[in-house]
Amino acid sequence: MTAAFDLSRFHALLETRTFGRNLIFEPSVGSTMDVARDSARRGAPAGTLVVADEQTAGRGRLGRSWVTPPGSNLASTLVLRPRASLLREVAMMAPLAICHAVQDMAGIRPAIKWPNDVIIGEKKVAGVLIESDLDGPEAPWVLVGAGINVNFDPREYEEIREIATSLRVETGHEGDREALLASYVHDFERLYRAAEEGESPFENWRERLATVGRHVRAQWGGGAAEGVAEDVTEDGALVVRTADGEAIIVEAGDVTLRA
Ligand code: BTN
Repeated sequence: MTAAFDLSRFHALLETRTFGRNLIFEPSVGSTMDVARDSARRGAPAGTLVVADEQTAGRGRLGRSWVTPPGSNLASTLVLRPRASLLREVAMMAPLAICHAVQDMAGIRPAIKWPNDVIIGEKKVAGVLIESDLDGPEAPWVLVGAGINVNFDPREYEEIREIATSLRVETGHEGDREALLASYVHDFERLYRAAEEGESPFENWRERLATVGRHVRAQWGGGAAEGVAEDVTEDGALVVRTADGEAIIVEAGDVTLRA
């Protein structure tokens, strides 16, 4: 079953000071990232939230596409204007806030697959896409795109059938999209304020990582390595120990978890 996103209900549930208070809602849009980028360039305040009920050209990391059928899932982009030193931490806060919101609502404890996929078991329930311009001519901006699979059935989509799940598939009942988004944004604001005051999300992010200790294949722009994901560094890079004992530091990329 699908139902249009209920904006007034979302507003009633929102407990934040700034995040989501300036809201741009699109029933259907190519990608919320594009709407957010335009509004950030035009001076939208930090905390501006773009939400769409459907994306026709949703984007994932590493040039992949992201499925957002109408009235089913959550597609949002948050505009932030952090100091440059917080950028790495923002990338940790986003999946953490999703984990907390999912856990509160569905009673399931998701994990994070490095760097910022949210997984239940081995399947992806949410993804995070970050785009930023911290030294362009305009005021610096960071866009935090979050796609959360709430009520669709990924088994209907050939390309993601094997790798994706949704809260409805996991719990057996409809997820409350408005409550979940309000909770995610609220938790994100809490983590963000704490980081601004020097409290890093790093340890909580690291503790949620399903990747550490696993045999992985890591891929990045033009390279790949296989080995044991030994740890993460404080700035979020993955340390992969290969069979010949070399430690490879992967700053950005993607991993596949091996058995
Ligand atoms: C990934 O895991 O590859 C990241 C997926 C990010 C998807 C979200 S949905 C809202 C926002 N708009 C987009 O086009 N992408 C992000």
